[in-house]
Amino acid sequence: MYLALFTVLACLWTCHCLVEKDEEQAQDHCGLLKQYLEASTVSVELTKRGFHRDLINTVELGPDTLGDVRVLLVHRWPSGVYVDPYQLAFMSDQRDWQILFDSTIDLEMPAHKTSGFLTYIYPSYTGPTPTILKVTIPVHGRYHEPSSVGEMFTSVYIDHPELLLRTEKCAQLNLLEPHTVVDAPCTVNNSSTCSWVRVHQQQELGPLSFQLPVGDGSAVVYICGGTLLATMICCAALSKYMWKHQII
Ligand SMILES: *[C@@H]1O[C@H](CO)[C@@H](O)[C@H](O)[C@H]1NC(C)=O
Ligand SMILES: *[C@@H]1O[C@H](CO)[C@@H](O)[C@H](O)[C@H]1NC(C)=O
Repeated sequence: MYLALFTVLACLWTCHCLVEKDEEQAQDHCGLLKQYLEASTVSVELTKRGFHRDLINTVELGPDTLGDVRVLLVHRWPSGVYVDPYQLAFMSDQRDWQILFDSTIDLEMPAHKTSGFLTYIYPSYTGPTPTILKVTIPVHGRYHEPSSVGEMFTSVYIDHPELLLRTEKCAQLNLLEPHTVVDAPCTVNNSSTCSWVRVHQQQELGPLSFQLPVGDGSAVVYICGGTLLATMICCAALSKYMWKHQII
């Protein structure tokens, strides 16, 4: 009788310990993920000139004690630029990341006839998460509506990307406060949605900006007017000449 009771108690005790240990481990992993989130940053830089630029993203990740951490970069692009899916497909063997677009991209549309879009970039690596990842995205300026006030250039503003991280090791994402949890496609195939944790920017950074040349809308009036005036003067001169010399 006592033996049975003892066995049951012992069993309960062990179970209790195991559960507690699991919970502790989960908390440990979440704690590590939190440190990892705080140590991770993303910085961006725009290179090249004119309509065709490169947006260089540098992701620095914390020292990896968690094993496998997945990384996702989300860019919110303005209507003034596009990213060319065909160009990216063409250079797919030169890049170690994959891209998912939230909409189809029309390469021909001028800026004022289209809207912004989102891209999801998944750096690909096997084995442990690297500490530095570089993603260079070719960005192209769209043609802009001619300026009505005679401006030669217009500015395009590109927001900083969001850096999102995910690991299977921490299931209790509520332990990660104040970090925000967001839903985004798990992989580039967009077959399912996962919970990702957003890395906070160290400081509030303004958007990157660059200038694109635009046609001058007000010049159109002068050009047409000038052409008409020149034509009229020529006609008048010619008529006068013909009148004078009695050609008709
Ligand atoms: C992923 O697929 C869902 C359902 O097919 C769709 O609603 C969503 O827009 C897709 N997301 C992206 C980023 O393509
Ligand atoms: C996406 O799907 C393709 C086949 O459609 C597969 O080969 C590839 O491994 C998948 N990629 C991921 C990241 O799941």
